[in-house]
Order: sequence, then C-alpha cells, then structure tokens
Amino acid sequence: MPSVRQLMDKHKISASTIFQAYYRLEAQGLIKARPRSGYYVCSSLAPHTLEADTASQPPLQATSVNNSDLIMAILQSSSERSVAPVDDLTQGHAPLRRQIALRYLAQGMAINANDIVITNGALEALNLCLAAVTQPGDIVLVESPTFYAALQSLERMKLQALEVPTHPREGIDLEALEQAIKQHAPKACWLMTNFQNPLGSLMPDAKKSQLVGLLARYDIPLIEDDVYGELYFDTERPRPAKAFDRQGLVMHCSSFSKTLAPGYRIGWAVPGRYLREVAQAKLTTTLTSPVPTQLALASYLEKGAYDQHLRRLRTQLKNQYGQFSKALGRHFPAGTRATRPEGGYFLWVELEKSVQTLELHRQALSQGISLAPGSIFSTSQNYSHCLRLNFGHPWTEHSTFEVDEASQCVTHFVDMSLYPDWVGVPQLRLARFTQDSLELSTRDPVMVAGTLGVGTLLWHRAEPV
Ligand SMILES: Cc1ncc(COP(=O)(O)O)c(C=O)c1O
Repeated sequence: MPSVRQLMDKHKISASTIFQAYYRLEAQGLIKARPRSGYYVCSSLAPHTLEADTASQPPLQATSVNNSDLIMAILQSSSERSVAPVDDLTQGHAPLRRQIALRYLAQGMAINANDIVITNGALEALNLCLAAVTQPGDIVLVESPTFYAALQSLERMKLQALEVPTHPREGIDLEALEQAIKQHAPKACWLMTNFQNPLGSLMPDAKKSQLVGLLARYDIPLIEDDVYGELYFDTERPRPAKAFDRQGLVMHCSSFSKTLAPGYRIGWAVPGRYLREVAQAKLTTTLTSPVPTQLALASYLEKGAYDQHLRRLRTQLKNQYGQFSKALGRHFPAGTRATRPEGGYFLWVELEKSVQTLELHRQALSQGISLAPGSIFSTSQNYSHCLRLNFGHPWTEHSTFEVDEASQCVTHFVDMSLYPDWVGVPQLRLARFTQDSLELSTRDPVMVAGTLGVGTLLWHRAEPV
C-alpha cells in the first residue's frame, strides 16, 4: 500500500484520516501491517475467515470406526453431474452401468444399472465380493484345479481353500460340493462356470441351476467369475449361474479384460444382496475406477461396435483352437491328454505322472517358451505333471513353428523324465526312443537318415539298462 506520507501529499488529508482507513481495511482482513515496513495487501481474499491456529483435540482413545454409511450417504447425495464432476462416484459411471445392464437383459436377466458396481478389472470385483462375505480363517470352496489368482486372494485374506473335484467338461462335481459343505461349513464358493481357467470346462445350464439351488439351501454365497463367458465357440453365450439366482446369493463378476484389453482395467460386480458391502468396500479401497476409460467404454458400447468385435474375436479364437489342437496332436508326446474347451483360450494338458512340469517350465523359459505349470493351480501337488496352454495369440505362419518348438521342448523333457537311462544330443532333437522303438522326428527326415547313416546314433541306452 502507499505510505501514509504519500497519501497525505497526494490527497491533502490528515494522517489520522489515512490511519482510520487503513485500520478499517485491516479489520476486514484485506491488508496487514508489517512493523517498520508499512501496510501490505493480504494474499487471501477471504475477509471474514479467521486463521485456524489451534491443534485438534481428539479424545485420545482407541475406538472402532463406523463412519462408512454416513460417508456413503454424503457422497451419493453429491453425485449429480451438476454438483460433482464424476457422476455416480461410488458405483461407477451410470451410462456404462446401463450398457452392462442391457447386456444382461439380452440374456434374459433382469439386472438393473443400480445393481452393478464398476471395478478395476474382474479381479477387484472378485476380491471385493470375497471380502464382503468372509472373515480371516473361513473356508472357501474352489474348483480343483483353480485359477491361481483365486488362491492368491485366499492366501492374502488369510482364508482356507477347500478344493472340490472338478470335471474337465462340466465343471465342479455337485455331489462332492454338497459333501464338502456338510463337512466343512464353508462361508463362500468361488467358481468359474463358463470356460474355467485352467480347464476350459463349461457347466451345462441344468447343472448351473442345481448348483444355485444347492448353495441356496445352505445359504452360501457364490462368487461367480465369468470373464470368459463371451468367448464361446458355439452360437450362443452360455448363461452364468447368476441367471438362476432367486435369492441374491450369486455375486457375478466379469470385465472387458479378455474381450477388449486387460489394460483398461474395467470390470464389474453384480453382488446381489451384498451390493451395499461391495460398493462400500470399493469406495474405501480405490474410490472409483478410471473415469475417462469408463466414459470411452460406455460410448463404445452405445455405438454397438462391441458385438461386432466379439463376433470376429470368437471366430478367430475358434480357428486358433483348431490349429493349436491339431499341432498338439501331431507333436506332443504319445499319451498326452488334453481338454477340449468350447470357448475361452486355455487348454489343460496332462502328461505322464512322473513329468515335473515346474522344471519343464523353467527349461522352456530358457528357450523363450512360456508354459504355465500345473502346480500353480492348486494347493496340492496333484497337478505337478500338468500344463496350461494358451491359444489366445493370433495364428500366423510363425505360430506353426513356435508350437513345433514348444512341442519339441515338451517331448524332449518328457523323454528325459520317462527314460532317464537314455542319454543323447538333445539340442539336435531329431530322434527319440519310446519303450521299444526309435522314433524319428518328421521335421527333416533326410537329415535324420543322413545322420543315422553315418553311424551317429543320436541317443543311446546308458549301461546298464
Ligand atoms: C479366470 C480369471 N478371472 C479373473 C481374471 C482377472 O481379470 P481382470 O484382468 O479383468 O482383472 C483373469 C485374468 O487372467 C482370469 O483368468
């Protein structure tokens, strides 16, 4: 501010008049005096706000926290577009939820947009549902084998897994499931009814209905992981178990990760009677899912482009499965058993019992080949001779070569596991012994014959047999 002397000279008024004016401005918080320096304009233009300068005084007593309902109510009350820039903060972008609800409707399921919670991918949806219905120490029923991330979630939440026998075509065994319920009083069930990971099994509708009825009799929530449901090879999307739910006990979870891109991190849960718990848990963990992605996906779905994309993707996956399974039939060791999925993009392969696929995985990795060893899909060692293979990558001319390479790597490893008394020149991989004969690789018979012709046996029996 100008000095008192400057103002006296300029306006020809007394010093006391100028001081009066400055005192008023100071009282309104507009200017501030600095000793021996003069008056300065305050940076904040909040004339009636007094500076808070006393520390808070909490009761200094530990107490349980019970504020979530109030916070939810406040947030929901300010979720209109005119009030907050992000609408429907807690359950996700409303137009996206409406589009997802329409997709349920197309399957004959009366799911409302308000029944849906948008999440960061299906994994968050599954975890929120699991947390809503369990306490540390509880038992949760899962398929055997099961998706490894389900086991990781149980481990992190200090829950116990109870694996239930599961058929590679039809999914979990319901008799065994009921038995497990009677004996172990589990608090939840986490299943994949459509194109299970890793088996690829698809539970028929009648069995889904029985499953839901069975769980309803014991009042056990079903956390249904349905991320592959849209990737069917047949003509119609298989319905989820949720379609048979009359009690709100099925918590259906899915995402756009397997159909569009995992990086979008947009999934959802339809948690039935646990909606409030799941929505609150979402709020207190990650608040909301990325809004720009939700807006983009809603607009994409509104334009109808998604179904067109899905049709192309299904045809592509079905073709890839055909090519892949043919190549396996040609190149994998005799005696290999593989599942025949009707959707999704995983194959489950059983090798001879003595083959340790964890070690195979390590060796294959050193050759740039990625195979998922059976052990990660169970808490037991029952699947240490199994592999999960992924045929989700587009099939190109190079794929034949890659599958061939992978098959040779597996075949060689199996040979070494089954016939440890045979030694050879593995890097050539031109021939292998079975129990009583020598089989030649068909990749380059001339070379094999030539090599054998000059008397070099690629493999020979170590002594003594
Ligand atoms: C069976 C299954 N459920 C859930 C997920 C996780 O899905 P999202 O990427 O949407 O979290 C995956 C991903 O690999 C999966 O295979």
